[in-house]
Amino acid sequence: MLEDKLKRYAQSGIYPFHMPGHKRNFSGCLPYELDVTEIDGFDNLHEPDGCLREIEHRAERLYNSKRAFLLVNGATAGILASVRAITHRGDTVITARNCHKSVYNAIELCGLNPVYILPDTIDDHNFFGAVSPGRVKELLLGNPNARLVIITSPTYEGICSDVKKISEICRDHGAKLLVDEAHGAHFPFCADFPQTALECGADVSVVSLHKTLPAPTQTALLLTNDISLEKPLQNQLSVFQTSSPSYLLMCGIEKCLDFAENNSFKEYNKMLDGFYRESLRLKKLSLLFNCYGASPVDKGKLVILTDKTALTGRELADMLREEFKLETEMSGADYVIAMTSVCDTKDGFDRLLSALLEIDGRIEYSDKELKFIIPTTLPQKVFDPCDAVLLKHGDPALIRSDGVVSLDYIYAYPPGIPFVVPGELISREMLEAFSSLSKLGLKISNYERYSRILKSLP
Ligand SMILES: Cc1ncc(COP(=O)(O)O)c(C=O)c1O
Repeated sequence: MLEDKLKRYAQSGIYPFHMPGHKRNFSGCLPYELDVTEIDGFDNLHEPDGCLREIEHRAERLYNSKRAFLLVNGATAGILASVRAITHRGDTVITARNCHKSVYNAIELCGLNPVYILPDTIDDHNFFGAVSPGRVKELLLGNPNARLVIITSPTYEGICSDVKKISEICRDHGAKLLVDEAHGAHFPFCADFPQTALECGADVSVVSLHKTLPAPTQTALLLTNDISLEKPLQNQLSVFQTSSPSYLLMCGIEKCLDFAENNSFKEYNKMLDGFYRESLRLKKLSLLFNCYGASPVDKGKLVILTDKTALTGRELADMLREEFKLETEMSGADYVIAMTSVCDTKDGFDRLLSALLEIDGRIEYSDKELKFIIPTTLPQKVFDPCDAVLLKHGDPALIRSDGVVSLDYIYAYPPGIPFVVPGELISREMLEAFSSLSKLGLKISNYERYSRILKSLP
């Protein structure tokens, strides 16, 4: 039974440096006896004007937004609804290539023409950095009909883009800016965190409460300062959210907002500062936040770099779990992300620090030749994603004289950012890069299928 499995994990003594942000350390069990549906007096999520609208008003106050909507199907529902509310079929959307798969799904479902921006790369690290405002401007100049720009800020690794500049550029070119701020729900609650996307001028943002705040999994908010979008957003949310929203989840959103309003994040901030200070004692492992100053970073994400050692991210994550009972959020080729929140304890931070110091003491420096594995060029687009999926009748690819066109996504999960999108050409070089990635322990979805297809060609 899943229940037994969950209980075993809860009792295992493993410390969670992963989502959800309540860390199972937040009083307020939400029981069956409170689980109701939209009976009289309990408002309607799809047309709220009572108790649910009051929660939205509270979110508007706390996030300084003109309109907030409750999401019970994650930031995913907010992203799908926003893209559909702002665009028309066939529109061009400027999209950062490191967007979450919900953005790609929205583009496909809405029949849009994506023009991608590759975010900056950071030194030798294998993850994307910020989106360059100059590049957004170039693409808007080259695509004057683009209605929407979509970026992710902060990224999974906590790196923020210059949303202020990007939003000014979007405004100058008549495009709306949607910021996937799923990992930044905690930003308004401590001056040491980066500014929110709406404060920086974004038209719409989506925050996952469950990722970094004490809120149940699936809970999130859609926020906008553009009141002309209120009706279209509400209409589209009715398409992408269930008609039976869980009152327990919505109650969880209210409790989370209540917590954020009435509690200080100072102690959490202090623990983070202490952790970073002490982690300067690490010699071979290092923390991204301690060595990166190019753009604002969410220090709540502990990005532990293994690039100067022989360890892969996966190996470090396994050691932390198996030897120290510390479960992290994700591991990449040469880094591990440990997610923190205001619900973390001093004991948790101390356990992680001493585990890292102990591991650091027993490993050696290594100049491993790790090929750069995040894409630094984009695959050639042959079809828009919506047209490519229509060509898929059981076949994952279209074999043409100019190459193999993918009809599916190829991505590593986590973080779920696609290397190849339906309608793009797959090259042999790409498959070689995926092969090195899978040898490093990363799961690359669809890689083997495409590898077999390319190998079978003359
Ligand atoms: C950058 C980013 N955006 C959006 C999402 C989707 O958020 P949710 O799980 O709240 O639907 C995720 C999920 O991991 C994410 O990492």
